[in-house]
Amino acid sequence: MQPKTLGEFVIEKQHEFPYSTGELSNLLNSIRLAAKVVNHYVNKAGLTDILGATGISNVQAEEQQKLDALANKLFIDALINREIVCGIASEEETDYISVSGMNKDNTNKYVVLIDPLDGSSNIDVNVSVGTIFSIYRRISPVGTPVTLEDFLQPGRNQVAAGYVIYGTSTMLVYTTGHGVNGFTLNPALGVFYLSHPNMKYPSKGKIYSINEGNYVHFPTGIKKYIKYCQEEKDDRPCTSRYIGSLVSDFHRNMIKGGVYLYPPTSKHPNGKLRLLYECNPMAFLAEQAGGKASDGYRNILDIKPEELHQRVPFYTGTTEMVDKIEEFIQIYD
Ligand code: AHG
Ligand code: MN
Ligand code: MN
Repeated sequence: MQPKTLGEFVIEKQHEFPYSTGELSNLLNSIRLAAKVVNHYVNKAGLTDILGATGISNVQAEEQQKLDALANKLFIDALINREIVCGIASEEETDYISVSGMNKDNTNKYVVLIDPLDGSSNIDVNVSVGTIFSIYRRISPVGTPVTLEDFLQPGRNQVAAGYVIYGTSTMLVYTTGHGVNGFTLNPALGVFYLSHPNMKYPSKGKIYSINEGNYVHFPTGIKKYIKYCQEEKDDRPCTSRYIGSLVSDFHRNMIKGGVYLYPPTSKHPNGKLRLLYECNPMAFLAEQAGGKASDGYRNILDIKPEELHQRVPFYTGTTEMVDKIEEFIQIYD
């Protein structure tokens, strides 16, 4: 029997959504479409002139890659012309984009936050990259333009979140708060099929993922945790795996059991990852898959964001491993 398609699945689950008017389904369909278009470009990246840098830096003073800019445009285009989204914030844009809608009446209800291309440093070397998205219902009144407050909601308020991984196969993984489901793209047909229903972390994890090159700058608790992972005791040592694309590292750890860490460093005293575009959506997925996400002290989903491009230390994976990291931070920092 053919597995369910993403389109069929979204419609079938529409009733689980509190405001079941089909809007969220339409929104997910726009994301599905954009994912396919970005996938098309990522897949032939070596054949066209889209590798390398644009020569400009984004708002976070990071060198923007051509694919960053292209994926950003493709996602914004796919979201903007539908009567659903009232605002978009992107890692690649300085400010949020206000979408007043076709009739300019500001009646659209959802804001979308995106990291259009995650893992930029891997683009030129043919290693997996991804896209991360996060969706909220606006809090400002319908009929008025979207406000900054609509974007600065705690992650707990997300109505949906997910990622696309452009890996050995392309997958779209998402949650609306009723578990996590993964869909694999059949590239010949251009159709996503349900391949990973109800994804859950294994109860025990053995993988730790961290850029250990920054070791000397890590807080003591994290240094001690790394040594703990390497210790020959009980079911340790753990295995170290680090791709350098959050989406790919997260995806592997969710399937195999593990933890991803991006602690504060001297270059990034608040951590490197962005609360709104990276941490919150991943935290929502982690929780829905039976895992956890923390900044070392607080659940990521409980943090009240203060600015669009805010960064936080980020630890996410199996609950047991994240708890252990918090314990080490408690003791040593
Ligand atoms: P982006 O490509 O969207 O800027 O994100 C890169 C992030 C994340 O995907 C990855 O895990 C991390 O940066 C890697 O950072 P280091 O190269 O410092 O390890
Ligand atoms: Mn990223
Ligand atoms: Mn990015």
